[in-house]
Amino acid sequence: MAASDHSPAGRSERSSLEIVSESSESKPVVESRAPLSRGELRGVLGNFATGVTIITAGGQRGERLGITANSFSSVSLEPPLVLFSLDKGAYSLRAFLSTAHFAVSVLSTRQRDLATRFAVPMGDKWATTEWRQTPNGSPWFPDSLAVFDCSTHYTYQGGDHVIFVGQVDSVVHYAPRAEPLLYFRGRYAELRPMEEETP
Ligand SMILES: Cc1cc2nc3c(=O)[nH]c(=O)nc-3n(C[C@H](O)[C@H](O)[C@H](O)COP(=O)(O)O)c2cc1C
Repeated sequence: MAASDHSPAGRSERSSLEIVSESSESKPVVESRAPLSRGELRGVLGNFATGVTIITAGGQRGERLGITANSFSSVSLEPPLVLFSLDKGAYSLRAFLSTAHFAVSVLSTRQRDLATRFAVPMGDKWATTEWRQTPNGSPWFPDSLAVFDCSTHYTYQGGDHVIFVGQVDSVVHYAPRAEPLLYFRGRYAELRPMEEETP
């Protein structure tokens, strides 16, 4: 799993997070006085709201790879580069490392079930899934907001994850009116635009 996810801070563990003051809204302000446990760190990182993607690739033995990922990020416009990080414990790590391409499907609110299905290790992710193929041979999903077809450019060691940097070879799908699927504090969410500022 990406470092920044996927469940509320480990509630059963002893906490290094202490309430140090009350804000004006009477909400506790919490500070870390000791090194955080893995669960605590994950819980705090989960306050960074993200979109949700499925990273896919065609494996070398003709198999299809796919994982739900919220570590996706843009890196560079010239050249066009994006990244995601993959847990070294993921079953598909070896296969992702041995293929030269991957695709990123940025998910819409219509794809929540798909996000859940592709977050299950080694699950039967593809049986009932409708998919298409990018020019580079990676699967992608209709109903997505945007789909990037990428060539793996670099990989880096990133602690317990491997960071994949890909060059965007093409955008194979773009639906600017679709609503994004979001992820925040271990839950899927939808966008609620803020009121316009009154002058
Ligand atoms: C919202 C969400 C985001 C996730 N982001 C990542 C991620 O960025 N990197 C990662 O390695 N795992 C991430 N995961 C977990 C993987 O989707 C999950 O471990 C997947 O089953 C790995 O598949 P595999 O073990 O079959 O390769 C995420 C899970 C969820 C629910």
